[in-house]
Amino acid sequence: MSDAPVLITGGAGFIGSHLTDALLAKGYAVRILDDLSTGKRSNLPLDNPRVELIEGDVADAALVARAAVGCQAVAHLAAVASVQASVDDPVKTHQSNFIGTLNVCEAMRQAGIKRVVFASSAAVYGNNGEGEAITEDTPKAPLTPYASDKLAGEHYFDFYRRQHGFEPVVFRFFNIFGPRQDPSSPYSGVISIFAERAVNGLPIAVFGDGEQTRDFFYVEDLVDLVVQGIEMPTVAEGAVNVGLNATTSLNELLGALAEVVGDLPPVSYLPARSGDIKHSRASNQRLLERFEVPEPTPLKVGLARLLGR
Ligand code: NAD
Ligand code: UD1
Repeated sequence: MSDAPVLITGGAGFIGSHLTDALLAKGYAVRILDDLSTGKRSNLPLDNPRVELIEGDVADAALVARAAVGCQAVAHLAAVASVQASVDDPVKTHQSNFIGTLNVCEAMRQAGIKRVVFASSAAVYGNNGEGEAITEDTPKAPLTPYASDKLAGEHYFDFYRRQHGFEPVVFRFFNIFGPRQDPSSPYSGVISIFAERAVNGLPIAVFGDGEQTRDFFYVEDLVDLVVQGIEMPTVAEGAVNVGLNATTSLNELLGALAEVVGDLPPVSYLPARSGDIKHSRASNQRLLERFEVPEPTPLKVGLARLLGR
C-alpha cells in the first residue's frame, strides 16, 4: 500500500461513507469527490487528517482531473442512485451517471491511475432474470436511463482497459442496505424508507402487490468486497454480480421488519412504478470464485443494526 490516497467519488453517500471507514481502518488515506446532493458531511469523519473532501460535481471534467492527481486508485460510486429519478429527468441524471463516469476515465488516464472499482447495477439486466438467478452473461436489457448509463459506463471502462491498460473491477450491485442509507426521498432505497416509517409510525406504501423480489446485500459486507477490488493483484475481465443468490419479497421484508420493531403502521398497496423490475436475484458464482466473500449478514440482523437495536 502506498501513502497516496484512494479517490472515492460519491464518498459522502451511503456506500461511499462505509467504504471510507473500511479504507481508513486499513490505514489508507481517502480523497472524496462529492457534490453532497444525497451525500452528507456528517457521514464522514472529517476530523481525521487522512480524509479529504472536495465538494463538487463529477460532471465537471477539470475538477475530476484535479481530484485524481496523486491518487493510487479510484472507487467510482458517484451517481444519482434512484432509478425513478432517471425516469423523471434523464438529461439531468445522465450528467452524473454517464458524463461523470467518462470524466473519471479521462482523469485516470491523465493521472496514470490504472485501478478502479465501478459501482454498476443489477438494473442492467432489466427483467431478463425473471424468477431465475441472473448470471453475468444473462443478456442485458436496460429499461431505464439509469440502467443504460451504468451499462454504457461498463463499456467505457472496458474500452480504457483495452486501450490504456486500466484495471477495472466492475461490480453489479444488487440491492444494498444498511445504516446511513438516506430515506428522505420517495425514491430512496426501499429498506431505508420502510424502516424509517416503521419506527416513526407513518403509513407505508408498497408499489405493486408486494410480491416483487430483491436480493438484499448488507453494506459492510459489500465494502469488504470493494476493498478487495482495490487491492487484488490482478483483475480478471468481466463484471461481477454482488448479491446472495437469495431473494426477499417486499411482503417478506415487511414481516421481517415487524419482527424487529414490533407492530407496523398501516400498509397500503398502490400501482407499480413504471420501469420497475419484478424479480431480481444474483447468481453469485463468479463473486465466490474471485473474492473472499464475508459471511453474509442476515436481513434481520442488518435491519436491527440499521435501526440501532
Ligand atoms: P448515495 O446516493 O448515498 O450515494 C451517491 C453519492 O454520490 C452521494 O454522496 C451523492 O451526493 C454523490 N453524487 C451524486 N451525483 C454526484 C455528482 N454529479 N457529482 C459528485 N457526487 C455526486 O447512493 P448509494 O446507494 O451509496 O450508491 C452508490 C453507488 O452505488 C451509485 O453509483 C449507485 O448507482 C450504485 N448502486 C447502489 C445500489 C444500492 O442498492 N444502494 C445498487 C446498485 C448500484
Ligand atoms: C435499487 C437501487 C439502485 C440499484 C438497484 C440494483 C436505490 C434507491 N436504488 O433499485 O441504485 O441500481 O437497486 O438492483 O438504492 N418500493 C415500494 N415502496 C417504497 C419504495 C420502493 O414499494 O416506498 C418498491 C419499488 O417500487 C421496487 C422495490 O421497492 O419495487 C425496490 O425499490 P428500490 O429500493 O428503489 O430499489 P430498486 O429500484 O431495485
